Amino acid sequence: MTERTFSIIKPDATARNITGKINAVIEDAGLRIVAQRRIRMSRVQAEKFYEVHKERPFYGELVEYMTSGPVVVQVLEGDNAVAKYREVMGATNPAQAAEGTIRKLFAESIQNNSVHGSDSQDNAKIEIAQFFKDEDIVG
Ligand code: CMP
Repeated sequence: MTERTFSIIKPDATARNITGKINAVIEDAGLRIVAQRRIRMSRVQAEKFYEVHKERPFYGELVEYMTSGPVVVQVLEGDNAVAKYREVMGATNPAQAAEGTIRKLFAESIQNNSVHGSDSQDNAKIEIAQFFKDEDIVG
């Protein structure tokens, strides 16, 4: 079933100028980038986006990191896009990520792991709505 997921190319990747390389992996996997914007995330945006992790010990550093440089927010579309993108990203910890995945190829650490992807269709809808208006998504 065609669905959409939300993606962020994170500051470690924009700093290394590899957003195009990451987009190539996304597109080679059959996902379409139907919306994309390069932004500087505000502290308020980052705190809200990662609110589910508020009690985790890494939350403060995560918010610092996500606001430390530009990010690229994206909407990806395709068959089973949520699950497919999670497969394409690889494990959160790059040390555990499978060969050929974005995190195996590019991530620096469990925090600086180059990309975020939604973990469910419900969260994809919520996350997309935090950064995109319907009319800015062109399928
Ligand atoms: P992401 O998939 O965006 O979800 C939460 C983020 O927190 C994660 O990617 C990492 O960037 C960051 N993070 C930092 N430390 C950890 C950790 N120990 N476990 C999970 N996520 C972590």
